[in-house]
Amino acid sequence: MFLTEEEKRMRDGAEGDAVAAAMDLLIRYSSALDAERLCDIRNVAGTMTQPSPVKARLVAEGGWDKAFAVINLDSDLDLTIPPMAVPTCQLQHGFGDDSIGVVPYPEANVLLQADAEAFYGRHGVNILATCTPYQVGNLPLRGEHCAWMESSAVIYANSVLGARTNCEGIASTGAASLTGKIPCWGNHRDENRFGTHLIDVRGQRVESFQDWGMLGYFAGGVAGEDHPVITGSVSRPDLTELKHFGAAAATSGGVELYHIPGITPEAPTVAAAFNGGTQPQAVTYGPAERQAMYETLNEIGSSPDVDFVLLGCPHASVDQIRQTAALLDGKRLSPSTELWIMAPRALKVMADRSGYTEVIERAGGRVLADSCPAMSRAAPRGTRVFATDSAKQAHYLPAILGIEAWFGTLEECVDAAVTGRWNGRLN
Ligand code: F3S
Repeated sequence: MFLTEEEKRMRDGAEGDAVAAAMDLLIRYSSALDAERLCDIRNVAGTMTQPSPVKARLVAEGGWDKAFAVINLDSDLDLTIPPMAVPTCQLQHGFGDDSIGVVPYPEANVLLQADAEAFYGRHGVNILATCTPYQVGNLPLRGEHCAWMESSAVIYANSVLGARTNCEGIASTGAASLTGKIPCWGNHRDENRFGTHLIDVRGQRVESFQDWGMLGYFAGGVAGEDHPVITGSVSRPDLTELKHFGAAAATSGGVELYHIPGITPEAPTVAAAFNGGTQPQAVTYGPAERQAMYETLNEIGSSPDVDFVLLGCPHASVDQIRQTAALLDGKRLSPSTELWIMAPRALKVMADRSGYTEVIERAGGRVLADSCPAMSRAAPRGTRVFATDSAKQAHYLPAILGIEAWFGTLEECVDAAVTGRWNGRLN
C-alpha cells in the first residue's frame, strides 16, 4: 500500500512506540481490506473507558497504558500512551456513580470507569459518553473523513451529515486516535456512496416517530449492508426521527449509509442518489409491509403486564425528554413499573435546568446518562416484560436480557408505565 513520508516516519517509530504500534495496526488492517492508502482524519468516536473484566485485569497488571495497548492497539508491547493526536470522543459506556442504588450495575465497574475517565481525559479524550455524539457538539462537516464506532452514530454521520466513516472497531479507532489516519476504503470513497436499493413508500404517509422507526427496520431488511434510497410519501423528518430511522436500519440490517432525495445532503434528486445510472426496481413499503414490521417488533411480547418502560434509544434529545415530562406531568407510575429515559449527560443537564427531570422523577421515572440497558446488560431487578418506543431496543433487549418486549409510541409507553399494562396497537 502507499504510505506518505509522514506515515512511514510514524511506522518507523519517529513519534514513539505507541504511534508505531498504531501505524502497524492500520497497515495490517488496510492490507486485510485491500485499502491502497490511508485517509487523514481529525474526528474519532471510539470507546476506551467501557469497563469489563478483561480491562480490570489489564489495568491491575500494567495500568491504563497496558489496557490501551492490548485493547485499543492490539499490541503486547509495554507502551506509554501519548495524548490523542486528533479530536477524539468517548461514545456510550457503563453507568456512572449517579446510577448507584437505581441501576443494578456493579459498583466496581462504576469505579473502574471513573478511573478510566480521569486517565483518558488527561490524554485528550472528550468524555461525551453517548451513542449520539452528534447531539452534543461532535458534528463533522459534509465530506469530512472520520473514524467512528457505534452503528447508529455511523449511519447518522454518513447519511444525515454527509461525513465519511465506516463502522470502525475498538482497535481501529484506538489507532486512529494516535495517528489521525484510517484506511481509505468503503464509505470514504466517492464511488461507494451511491444508492443500491430503492424503497417507495405508498398507500400511507410516514410521518410519526414510530413510523420512521418501522420504515428504518424495513429498509435494513431490504438493503442488508447496502444503501437504501427512500422515495414516496414521507414527511420531512427531524433529528429524532432520522436518529430512530437510522438506528433501526442498522439493526435489522447493517446499513451505514442511506439517502432520502431532497432531504439528505448527498442526494438532491433520486437520479443523483444513483449517480445518474440505472435505478433498481422499487420495493414497495405499503400498509401490509408496515403491519408486518409492527408484528415483527412485537413478536416477543405476550404478557400485558409491563415491569419496565425504556425510552431514549438512541440517547434521547432534550425535546424527547420534554415530551416525556409533559405526558407524565401530574401522574404517578404504577407501583409495579419503572421508567428510564436514557440521555447524553450534557442533555440531562439541560433537562435538569429546564425542570423536565423533576417532573419525570416526581412521577417516579428516571433520566439516566452515559449508558443503556443493552450496553450495560442492566434493567430493573425482576424485569420480565418491557415496553419501548425504540425499534433497536425492541430488537436487541429480549435477546440480551431474556425478557419480553412491546414496541409502540411514546404515548403508549408512558401509558404502560402509569397503568402497568400494555394497551398498544397500530393505528
Ligand atoms: Fe444507544 Fe444503547 Fe440504543 S448505546 S443506540 S441507547 S442500544
